[in-house]
Amino acid sequence: MKTRAIVNAAVAAAALVFGATAFAAGDAAAGKQKTVMCAGCHGIPGYKTAFPSVYNVPKLGGQHAGYIVKALQGYKAGERSHPTMRAIAADLSEQDMADLAAFYSADSAKTAAK
Ligand code: HEC
Repeated sequence: MKTRAIVNAAVAAAALVFGATAFAAGDAAAGKQKTVMCAGCHGIPGYKTAFPSVYNVPKLGGQHAGYIVKALQGYKAGERSHPTMRAIAADLSEQDMADLAAFYSADSAKTAAK
């Protein structure tokens, strides 16, 4: 019983800490599911592009999560002008962005370990 109370307190404390952060906490597993929308151009895993000879697609794997979220917000807000990315980002929620960023940023760990 006592252990359970401590665990509950810890969970509550964690919820408070995460709730207070400015960005939604990204879930890499959920983000992976969402990369079906991105894989055609950005490729998974890592950062191989599907059409390197057609146009330059920036690598996402290994980018800082905060940078990815910021970039997606920029497309959504119209601060970044690429038409395709604007159309894609327009449909992403804050949670989608955080999840995708968590997945792509964690990708560096895998590629760096090789
Ligand atoms: C139709 C091809 C295409 C698809 C699909 C696509 N992207 Fe992109 N993405 C691009 C191109 C091209 C750029 C570079 C645009 C520019 O120059 O601003 C880009 C840029 C980005 C950037 C900025 C990277 C940087 O370093 O500046 C991010 C982040 C990004 N895409 C994330 C995503 C995510 C997440 C998805 C899926 C939800 C996705 N993209 C789907 C083609 C695509």
